[in-house]
Amino acid sequence: MSILVTGGAGFIGSHTVVELLDKGYDVIVVDNFVNSKPETLDIIKDITGKDFKFYEADILDKEKMDEIFTENKDITSVIHFAGLKAVGESVEMPLEYYQNNIAGTLVLLNTMRKHNIKSIVFSSSATVYGDQGVPKYTEDLGRGKTTNPYGTTKAMIEKILEDLYFSDNQWNICILRYFNPIGAHKSGLLGEDPQGIPNNLMPYIMKVAAGELDHLNVFGNDYDTKDGTGMRDYIHVVDLALGHINAIEKMEKTKKGLSVYNLGTGNPYSVLDLVNTFEKVNGVKVPYVITDRRPGDIAVCCADPSKANKEMGWRAERELEEMCRDSWNFAEKRYKGM
Ligand code: NAD
Ligand code: UFG
Repeated sequence: MSILVTGGAGFIGSHTVVELLDKGYDVIVVDNFVNSKPETLDIIKDITGKDFKFYEADILDKEKMDEIFTENKDITSVIHFAGLKAVGESVEMPLEYYQNNIAGTLVLLNTMRKHNIKSIVFSSSATVYGDQGVPKYTEDLGRGKTTNPYGTTKAMIEKILEDLYFSDNQWNICILRYFNPIGAHKSGLLGEDPQGIPNNLMPYIMKVAAGELDHLNVFGNDYDTKDGTGMRDYIHVVDLALGHINAIEKMEKTKKGLSVYNLGTGNPYSVLDLVNTFEKVNGVKVPYVITDRRPGDIAVCCADPSKANKEMGWRAERELEEMCRDSWNFAEKRYKGM
């Protein structure tokens, strides 16, 4: 019995592969390294002391995907992380995003159906809620208006999965809507290290603290929040990874169905909370300046994670301090060679 993980060399995928191997699952990883590095696979093996099969392949490659499923008759489920995820880039390159994320998912689903593997966990995002002006998002609110092609690919894939399930209810589909994953593996060997200037808050803070960037730009302090800066539900990537184990365990029991879960902590923190906590727990400085709002940003985005707790027995356990400590532990090793 093996779990096929697409995008398993990436940030969330690599942490999930570690947890799957630790729990005794056999894992097969497919990745084309468009946003990750081969070394990550060795790091996963070092951390876990376990080996796994790997295919360097693009999920858009129908023949290769068919070959992978033909060679591995023991695949029971797929966890589908592979996708492009940079919001700004998706605005500049919409066709590449639709092609990679949507066409790639269609190739994957067609290949799964051909081989009668009908169990999939899909990486969706809180971005599918859009701005609904509520303090916490529950799954039954449904999808709102997406503001960029990346978000639209997530909403479209959710719809494709729903249509697939309604056409054939032998499928077992679990859609996980992630909030804001940060943090890193305790070893400091796995984490998020985007190329160039980061778009997201924590990778930017890490580079400022390491002296790679001069200061953080805080995008607006005039939101209707406690300190005027945007508030998000930051979740430790290991808690997020563990959510996939709960999803797989639940799907093994239910055998079929379509479910949607938020993976977040339910506790929103502001940009300044993150900066202050990062400085305090790590004893470093994160200089910042307040700038204009970033177009498309919303004031607050926070999960109501109670459905995942009730139905999958999952709860995020790691606090903001630990997320900041683990992020810096990774950044120090990466940027300062410590
Ligand atoms: P990531 O870029 O680190 O990982 C994605 C992996 O998929 C990379 O290793 C990349 O090389 C691979 N990949 C991309 N296209 C591929 C293709 N066509 N064929 C094979 N491999 C391919 O991103 P991540 O942060 O680990 O995100 C994983 C998933 O979770 C993505 O689908 C992302 O959209 C989603 N997600 C991420 C966040 C976040 O904030 N990180 C939030 C919500 C949802
Ligand atoms: N922010 C700054 N300065 C920066 C970067 C971010 O002030 O340099 C602020 C933003 O304005 C926002 C908060 O920090 O208030 C978080 O911003 P991120 O870019 O880290 O995260 P977002 O919530 O904007 O978006 C992320 C992913 C999306 C995903 C969404 C929900 O980038 O892909 O979380 O999961 F859809």
